[in-house]
Amino acid sequence: MGPGYLDRALCGLKQKKDPNLLSGFDSAEDAGIYKLTDDIAIVQSVDYFPPIVDDPFDFGQIAVANALSDIYAMGAKPLTALNIVSFPKKKLDIEVLREILEGGLRKLNEAQVTLVGGHSIEDEELKYGLAVTGVVHPDKILRNKGITVGEKIILTKPIGTGIINTALKAGMASSKAIRDVTESMKTLNRKASEVIQELGVGAVTDVTGFGLLGHLYEMVCNENAGATVFAEKVPIFDETEKFAKMGIVPAGTHANKKARQIFVTTEKEIESYLLDILFDAQTSGGLLFTVEEQKADKAIRLLRQNGVLKATIIGEITSLPRGGILIK
Ligand code: CO
Repeated sequence: MGPGYLDRALCGLKQKKDPNLLSGFDSAEDAGIYKLTDDIAIVQSVDYFPPIVDDPFDFGQIAVANALSDIYAMGAKPLTALNIVSFPKKKLDIEVLREILEGGLRKLNEAQVTLVGGHSIEDEELKYGLAVTGVVHPDKILRNKGITVGEKIILTKPIGTGIINTALKAGMASSKAIRDVTESMKTLNRKASEVIQELGVGAVTDVTGFGLLGHLYEMVCNENAGATVFAEKVPIFDETEKFAKMGIVPAGTHANKKARQIFVTTEKEIESYLLDILFDAQTSGGLLFTVEEQKADKAIRLLRQNGVLKATIIGEITSLPRGGILIK
């Protein structure tokens, strides 16, 4: 789940209280959670979008990695999925859809998630995504709240997918840059989630539409602490800086910056393009989490041992700015 019009449209609307609802639409978490028994809760999320890469098979894989990410961000194990498809059958050959679904299925198999069905409609624009369901012990839910001063902040994937994908659409990104972001977006956050569950951490979320600073803000807003980000430590994809400097930035990134820039302070003058990168709307981004300082190096070591090679300490939780972010 995550950023979208639903949050705003539903804001203020009330539904009947249900004691089994552990995370609902008003809690700004990555997924909804509903308790079935004292030992088991179901975790649900849905996401779908138009193609962001040219290759249908890659797009299918990315859509699955992206949809499952919210389940992993809650410390849950995904079990089942439903395909959601909008298809312009007058404009596109059905073979394209077949390749997308084949890519999706390949990624679901890798994640050991069972496809149980789906729904398709005819539409002007192709879109693909999934509704996914997982399980978690009600006491072991990882939330995007619960930070403590002194904790380190770790990010498990580089950022810049929005900017590179925009450059791709403009025919400007190099094939290497496209390959790098595609590979990253296809990568499941499963291993990262397993390491985090094993280690025990503070707050956890995944970096998607709000961008790094937007999701970090969700983590610190309403808390008695803030986040300090070391800008030069944040891993970014090759060419992201080049395109950001040229103003090749998606609309979602501009919107993120406009909405949340006021919660961000900087130690020294910061170039506008750098803020664009830090606010860049991501697809299938990495996990973002806080962890006790003593465990931070171990976290990085374990993540890298498990193939999460780009995991990096990007900042720390500080007493100030309260409920906001400082860029150093
Ligand atoms: Co999320």
